[in-house]
Amino acid sequence: MLMADDGKSEHFPRLPLNTGEISADKPSLRPFKKHILICTGPRCAPETSLDVYQYLKEQLKRLGCYDGPERIARSQCHCFGICQMGPLAAVYPDNVWYCHLTKEKVDRVIQEHLLANKPVEDYVFYKS
Ligand code: FES
Repeated sequence: MLMADDGKSEHFPRLPLNTGEISADKPSLRPFKKHILICTGPRCAPETSLDVYQYLKEQLKRLGCYDGPERIARSQCHCFGICQMGPLAAVYPDNVWYCHLTKEKVDRVIQEHLLANKPVEDYVFYKS
């Protein structure tokens, strides 16, 4: 955790602008194959969603999914505006949505969808 000049903690460091190394005009993310977002908001499944997200993080790390241009990105979201059937997850760029996630379902989503590119139809509640 970084500390600001006033001694208060900062979750996100202030990046130097116009240094030549980091351009505020052209921000970008490292390339990734897929991005999975899980809602850990207060109305979906607050008793399980954070555990499911932590499990996802651990499994992606264990499987070495965070490196290279084919990496899997993951994010924790506060709310998708759906607020039921949680824990919810969305996988992009596929726009496939999963509901009622458990650790066991996360294993299948990782193996079949994120790594093998085949959505787990048993758990999909929306896709386009
Ligand atoms: S709290 Fe999860 S979608 Fe709103």
